[in-house]
Amino acid sequence: MDAHTSALLNENTRRFVAKPKRLLIGGAWVEASEGGTLDVFDPATGQAFAKVPAGGKADIDRAVAAARQAFDGGDWAVMRPVDRERLLMKLADLVEANAQELAELEALDNGKPVTVARFADVALVVDSLRYMAGWATKLGGETMQPSVPIIREREFWGFTRREPVGVVGAIIPWNFPLLMAAWKMGPALASGCTMVLKPAEETPLSALRLAELVQEAGYPAGVFNVVTGLGHVAGAALSSHPHIDKLAFTGSTEIGKLVGKAALDNMTRISLELGGKSPMIVLDDADVDAVAAGAAHGIFFNSGQVCTAGSRLFVHKKKFDQVVEGLSNIAAGMKVGAGLDPDTQLGPLVSAVQQERVMGYIRSGFDEGARAAVGGEAGAGGGYFVKPTVLVDARDDMRVVREEIFGPVVVAMPYDDLDEVARRANDTPYGLAASIWSNDLTRVHRLIPRIKAGTVWVNCHTVLDNSMPFGGFKQSGIGREMGRAVFDQYTELKSVLMAL
Ligand code: NAI
Ligand code: MG
Repeated sequence: MDAHTSALLNENTRRFVAKPKRLLIGGAWVEASEGGTLDVFDPATGQAFAKVPAGGKADIDRAVAAARQAFDGGDWAVMRPVDRERLLMKLADLVEANAQELAELEALDNGKPVTVARFADVALVVDSLRYMAGWATKLGGETMQPSVPIIREREFWGFTRREPVGVVGAIIPWNFPLLMAAWKMGPALASGCTMVLKPAEETPLSALRLAELVQEAGYPAGVFNVVTGLGHVAGAALSSHPHIDKLAFTGSTEIGKLVGKAALDNMTRISLELGGKSPMIVLDDADVDAVAAGAAHGIFFNSGQVCTAGSRLFVHKKKFDQVVEGLSNIAAGMKVGAGLDPDTQLGPLVSAVQQERVMGYIRSGFDEGARAAVGGEAGAGGGYFVKPTVLVDARDDMRVVREEIFGPVVVAMPYDDLDEVARRANDTPYGLAASIWSNDLTRVHRLIPRIKAGTVWVNCHTVLDNSMPFGGFKQSGIGREMGRAVFDQYTELKSVLMAL
């Protein structure tokens, strides 16, 4: 790591980055069985600054066996819900106490602004763990009054039990590494499951630090295991593992289909949170300044590497030029820089691969006739920077309109009437989220049911709350995370019918 970067880190972060990294399996820190390592890169400089174990199939086998053992017997299996709640609360306290270090790790590893990491990512992790901790004591079944035919002389009593699904395999992406880990571990540990976490190879550090905090909180060995490694190696071994009961995946639709099929071979339960091409729909009454600021957040937050990124901006033709001008002015004024620089508003993309993918999309847009109102080029220096970009003069059949770009690139398009915009908003294989910008209640309510998406925001975009179920329609995924709804994914419902 260069001296400039190192000077921006607090001492704890420096110490963690410098020490050798191991896998957490069955409560012990171990090397990868085959001994290999993966380099971890700083997206702001392109330089490798740490190594993590390259976990393989044998490591996944060991981790799943440890999770299985912890689930089937021992302290965890008999732990009372209130004690699971207390442990998860303790973990949340530890995350909070180490917030600055975790935020710096996230900024260093992913590239995101450190203030965003601290006050969005890490703060959301703390809230999420606490929210889920509360459910540990509140999950339960129902009692029924059966009307069993034929056997009229007997009385029957029925009830349901909600039981933990078992061993959870969690595969997470690099855009919100710690938060995606929390979204899986909160419900898993609250409901009494055990788990094996496979972080993304681009951003493995915060998961390993989190695993240290899990140990410090006092979780029994094997309840929470972390195996770092490559997707097609460690990830593939986990998703196809016959001894996991549930696979929780967040990532691309392409890999989501692959892991979903592998899991189905073992009838492993799956939840898939996948890609999106979310529309932001601006009605003709909307306030231009508020829309420009809201749309800037909708697309540029986390450098556009957000599954719900508002990547298609539909503006009524009356307001189109004004909104594009307002949004372009905000984009032009954004400070692009290293995540650890306190002034940075837009960090680099996560990797050279992602930068090239996004630049490839921008070039394809130009080739097909679109134009950049602002941006359209990579940033200077050795980091993986792409300038915030607003594309105009696009047609609905262009790749930049149809495919997920996952970068700071929005396509702005005018429309004439609500029927047209509803049709175009839904003209995508994805259905993760959408936003509507208007104060006309009647038209907003008419539009909400017509939008095929798991979340519809009104006058805001990418605002998440633990109480609100989150997930996709169509090719954006299967299942819901967050809220009470997530426990449908982490529990089995058992029906009990008793003859008296
Ligand atoms: P990816 O889907 O390949 O990676 C996500 C996770 O899946 C990582 O942990 C990776 O190691 C793992 N993985 C990869 N191949 C696997 C396999 N064969 N079996 C099991 N696990 C595997 O995403 P990638 O390649 O990093 O990004 C590609 C595109 O995916 C992005 O440009 C973006 O469009 C989309 N994406 C969407 C995310 C979301 O939040 N919905 C997050 C990350 C990427
Ligand atoms: Mg991939």
